[in-house]
Amino acid sequence: MKPKILVTREIFDDVLEYLAGHFEVVSNQEDHPMDRQTLTQNLADKSGVMTTLVDRVDADLLAGCPELKAVCNIAVGFNNIDLAACSKARVMVTNTPGVLDDSTADFTWALILATARRVVESDAHLRAGQWKGWYLKQFLGFDVHHATLGILGFGRIGQRVARRAAGFEMTVLYHSRRRADPDVERDCKATFVSKEELLARSDILTLHVPYAPSTHHLIGRAELAMLKPGAILINAARGGVVDDAALAEALASGRLGGAGLDVFENEPALHPALPAMKNVVLTPHIASSSAATRNAMAMLAARNLVAALTTGNPPNLLNPEYLRKG
Ligand code: DGY
Repeated sequence: MKPKILVTREIFDDVLEYLAGHFEVVSNQEDHPMDRQTLTQNLADKSGVMTTLVDRVDADLLAGCPELKAVCNIAVGFNNIDLAACSKARVMVTNTPGVLDDSTADFTWALILATARRVVESDAHLRAGQWKGWYLKQFLGFDVHHATLGILGFGRIGQRVARRAAGFEMTVLYHSRRRADPDVERDCKATFVSKEELLARSDILTLHVPYAPSTHHLIGRAELAMLKPGAILINAARGGVVDDAALAEALASGRLGGAGLDVFENEPALHPALPAMKNVVLTPHIASSSAATRNAMAMLAARNLVAALTTGNPPNLLNPEYLRKG
């Protein structure tokens, strides 16, 4: 008998077919978000689950899923999963690193350009029938070329954002917990600086850190006050890394020039002040969402699940300690 698995949201047909070759699959192809009770009921007899970043997996949920052996998140971020609780329950957890780096870096650039050059605001102006013709001071924006780009978090995605800056002949500064190897710095034409220097010198600051207790409000009121007047903040990493209330204040006061935001503290809710602000570009957590990349993410999660339930050692295992007794 094939093991039973659950896919919590709609996935692509080819991924579903691949899974069906290995498992008895229940997939939420209607794509209705599953509330806690429905999720627990559906997981009661399942050996594995493919989750998304909106499914919270914690000790409470695991207590109702005695058969569960693997949780395979269709995301590189895994702050929706309590790793320690999973390890304690001997449940493997995997994520999808690597496959979304380029798409996320591309989208970061979409936010940078759209925010600096007021693309969304001017598009809305035209659609509202307000354009009365060309004039010199219309929608004056901020030049990206030759500006200083600051990158906070210099993993795979941060590095790809840096490489793309070369075409704009920018000065690229970065800060991360660990300094990158000299050959990476050379390839990315990026200079390591302290967090304080990064904040003080960046014209555009873009964030590429995961969300964890240590990165909660990494950019808060104090950090925003250290940014250059008129600086632009970009966040395509995770909500909660930025204190959205402090950001809204800094934008409203004119202290910041603008913000491009793909992620929010209380998704899908937005800080109430943000939607009315013209100097803000808002997108619904879609930085990785090209058709090819979202398919690759789902397929990688599916391959992780097959490996988890057949070998007990999937390629992107986040908690090898799940095997430890005690
Ligand atoms: C991730 O993979 O963590 C992304 O945020 C999903 O879009």
